[in-house]
Amino acid sequence: MNESPARYATVTVVCGDRALVVPAGGHAVCRAARAPVTAVATWSPLVARGLSTGVGDRIAVTGAAGAIGGFAVQLARHQGLRVVAVAAPEDEPYLTGLGATFVARGDHPAYAVRKAVPGGVVDGLLDAASLGTSVIGAVRDGGSFVAVTPPNAPAAERGISVGLVQARADGAELAELVGLVESGRLDLRVARTFPFERVAEAHTMLAKGGFRGGVVLVADFVSPRDADAGDRRS
Ligand SMILES: NC(=O)c1ccc[n+]([C@@H]2O[C@H](COP(=O)([O-])OP(=O)(O)OC[C@H]3O[C@@H](n4cnc5c(N)ncnc54)[C@H](OP(=O)(O)O)[C@@H]3O)[C@@H](O)[C@H]2O)c1
Repeated sequence: MNESPARYATVTVVCGDRALVVPAGGHAVCRAARAPVTAVATWSPLVARGLSTGVGDRIAVTGAAGAIGGFAVQLARHQGLRVVAVAAPEDEPYLTGLGATFVARGDHPAYAVRKAVPGGVVDGLLDAASLGTSVIGAVRDGGSFVAVTPPNAPAAERGISVGLVQARADGAELAELVGLVESGRLDLRVARTFPFERVAEAHTMLAKGGFRGGVVLVADFVSPRDADAGDRRS
């Protein structure tokens, strides 16, 4: 969910190749409403555009305890990359549990990442916390930097390619992600689930903050045809 009222709709139109048909009672991913957007956003730089050149590369992820960052850490580990995760001290157990090297967030993120890794630089960096120019110094010459918000993309320097995540739905990528979720290799990290009629409580929780993971509204919609059938039965 975000602050845009446009997120709520009773009907939506989706191109067939951008959607995944989920069998009734099926995948866990369909319950985590924001997972498809954030996971596909993460998937695109890591897989399609190549944040790293191959297994064994070391990447850094800022905002590593957030939605995009958390997926990035898991997907990168799944691809055999070494990961440096920049987040708050209380997130250290979660991130080290995912196999990342933890770096505490602070005023000098580039310096902190450089200090944490052998050789003093990483091959690529996904900047999910939008730290921009303050963290590009941790990337090696000729490496890659992927921003998540256009205003926070730093100017390219030292031959580093600077790209921008552009989430777009893709049925094939969603299917791969669902496979990872179902096999237990991708944790959706749902903080709390609410039935749709408790939407106000969900928004209050979002506004208060102070939790990790997504807040999910589960809509138990009945199709008009089924509703008609129910009316005829009663
Ligand atoms: N381009 C696209 O296609 C696309 C798609 C989806 C989202 N986005 C954008 O991507 C960004 C991240 O989205 P998200 O859903 O992952 O947000 P999120 O879940 O709020 O995660 C952001 C994380 O960054 C952490 N953070 C803030 N300042 C930090 C710092 N100085 N060092 C390290 N971590 C820090 C936050 O921690 P605290 O909560 O403790 O502050 C939070 O855990 C947003 O700006 C969103 O608009 C872009």
